[in-house]
This record gives sequence, structure tokens and C-alpha cells, in this order.
Amino acid sequence: MIRVGIVGLGYWGPNLVRCFSDIQDCKVTAVCDRDYDQLLRIKDRYPGVYPMENFDSLLDRDLVDAVVIATPTASHHQLALKALQHDLHVFVEKPLAKTSDECLELVEVAEQRNRTLFVGHVFLHSSPVVKLREMIDHGELGSINYISSRRLNLGPVRKDVSALYDLAPHDISMMLYLLGQTPISIACSGFDRLNPGIHDVCNLTMTFEGNRIGMVHVSWLDPRKERVLTVVGDKRMVVYDDLEQEKIKVFDKGIDKPENTSGDFADFQLSYRYGGSYSPFIQEREPLKAECQEFIRCVNEKQTPLTDGVNGLRVVEVLEAADQSLKLGGVPIEMKSRNPVVGEVG
Ligand SMILES: NC(=O)c1ccc[n+]([C@@H]2O[C@H](COP(=O)([O-])OP(=O)(O)OC[C@H]3O[C@@H](n4cnc5c(N)ncnc54)[C@H](O)[C@@H]3O)[C@@H](O)[C@H]2O)c1
Repeated sequence: MIRVGIVGLGYWGPNLVRCFSDIQDCKVTAVCDRDYDQLLRIKDRYPGVYPMENFDSLLDRDLVDAVVIATPTASHHQLALKALQHDLHVFVEKPLAKTSDECLELVEVAEQRNRTLFVGHVFLHSSPVVKLREMIDHGELGSINYISSRRLNLGPVRKDVSALYDLAPHDISMMLYLLGQTPISIACSGFDRLNPGIHDVCNLTMTFEGNRIGMVHVSWLDPRKERVLTVVGDKRMVVYDDLEQEKIKVFDKGIDKPENTSGDFADFQLSYRYGGSYSPFIQEREPLKAECQEFIRCVNEKQTPLTDGVNGLRVVEVLEAADQSLKLGGVPIEMKSRNPVVGEVG
């Protein structure tokens, strides 16, 4: 039985308390928030759980084996580091930390201490994304030309991080997973209207090896909620709309270029394919619940999670490069991935 303590009971944390409380091999033993009102809300619903205002009190190995962090991004590194240094397993909400330096340190300490470090890239545990990856791996879509996504809504506006850091980790993590690659360059432009320096709208372009691209449009200043990801392969195309009942729609559409043409304009005949569309069967499950179960399984079985610290680091490296590009007016930034150096326990 893995005993879990959850810190941060604002908007998202209570969902984690609910999901972890529903898992058989796990028990939520303590919750923590420095805001007493948030603590009271959870205490009333889960009377057997210890409520704490101070994070240090949660780091007690007689009480918890693992800590789940759902506080604002700026505090992730400090809280996760403390928990790892107390030899606790750690689940951190996305993004893993604010900078790649912070992520690297967390990955290295987790490895030195032999603890599970898990990042809340929740979409990698959702059935439609798993299905999409399966279709790509089986060649059903052909060679992938590009993936684009739109994550838009009117609010909620954050003051601590931009729409890029708040919303794009979901799309970046999905694109890296679906393509099985990290980008070679990043360009990002955006618009900061509500709070100067904190972008409300961002357009991110990731260039991958093989002339593939990933485009992400995020905004909390948009009239309509949209959660759409489109994968364009040269055989088939797929639209994943997370707000629809039938989340995935496969289109047998495309444009083919004839081979062996002389290059004359008369020979340049594109052929358009307007085939039908269908929605494959997908076994529905709650992505957050699946994610929490996977964390507990990885801790129990000492397995490396798909969304491990290095996966969290890769996403933050993209965010960091995008932020740099944003500050330079959208110029492309070459990506440099770093790997953890694992030494002796300090
Ligand atoms: N996976 C998802 O789809 C998803 C959705 C929303 C938020 N999130 C992530 O969850 C995290 C939290 O987001 P939120 O919207 O719930 O934020 P929030 O501001 O609503 O809540 C954060 C809570 O943490 C508490 N807190 C902050 N620092 C603390 C500390 N040092 N000790 C104890 N308590 C502390 C605050 O009092 C607050 O109650 C963020 O990383 C965010 O990116 C993920």
C-alpha cells in the first residue's frame, strides 16, 4: 500500500485527491495547503486524511511514501527537491519546473536516491492519444507531415506563468510522444495584453528531423473553448477533438503528387483524394485516474514511467527555447537537449 500526501488544493489538487483516493493499492494519508480554507474543504470531504498547512510536516516517512505536487509552477522545483531529499517518490503537475536547470537537478536527485519522479503530462495517459500513437506506429496514417493543435478559451488567466507555460505543455508533450522525437528548432510569437510580460496568446512552431513540423496555438483570450489536435499523414489525416463525444475522426483524404513527371507545368497534376471518414472505437477511461494509477504502478513495480523526469525536462526545454524566441521577436532557436549526469548521493 503506497501512502500518498498531496500538496496544493486549489483548482486542480482536489481532482488528484479524488483520483488517488479511488485507487486500491494506495491511500491518501495527508493533504497540505497553506490556505486554511482550501484545507477545510478537503478535510470535510475526506475526514480520515491529515490536513497540514506546512509542507515540511508532510515530509514524514512514517506518514507518506510519495508526495503529489499541485502547487503553482514556480514552487515545483523547491517542493519536489525537498521531497526527493527525504527519499519520497514524487509526482509533479506539469510543467515539471520553470527552467531546464531545475528539471535536470530533480532528475539527477531522483536517480541518486532511486526514487520515482513522475510528471503530470496527463494526455499521454488518455485513450485517444494512445490510439493515435498506435495508428502512427502501425503506419495507418503514412508518413506524418505535420501536427497542429489549438488550445483556446476565455480564461482562466494566470498571473504567475504565461499561456505558453500553462497550456502548451499538454500539446508539446503529445507531439513529442506522437512523433517519438524532440524538435531541432523552435520559433514562437505571441501577444501580452492583460499583464505585460505574461503572454496571453502564443503561436509555437517546432521543427523536427525529416521536415516534420508541430504547430501549437494557445490562448486564454479567445471567445470559444477549443481542444483540437490534427495529425496530417500522407495516407490519412486524423482530428482529435477532446470536447467531442467521438473524440477521434480519421479522414481518408489527401493530395498525391504524381511520380516521374518531367517538371513541366502541364505535368504538374495533383490528385485530390476525398475519401470517407470514420471514428474508431476507443475504450474510454478518465485520463487523470489512469495517470494516478500509472504513478502508483511505477512506484510499486520500480518501473520508469513514460512521463518520467527526463520527459518533463524535454517539455521544459521546448518551453524555454520558445520563451527565448518570444523575447527575440519570433526568431528560430536551435534546440539543445541535455542529459542528466548521475553521480553519488551527496
Ligand atoms: N493536468 C492538468 O490538466 C492541469 C489542470 C490545471 C492545473 N494543472 C497544474 O496544477 C498545478 C496547480 O494549478 P492550480 O490551477 O490548481 O493552481 P491554484 O493556484 O488554483 O492552486 C494552488 C494551491 O497551492 C497552494 N500552495 C501554493 N504554494 C504552496 C506551498 N508552498 N505549500 C502549500 N500549499 C501551497 C495554494 O494555496 C493553492 O491553494 C499547476 O502546476 C498547473 O499547471 C494541471
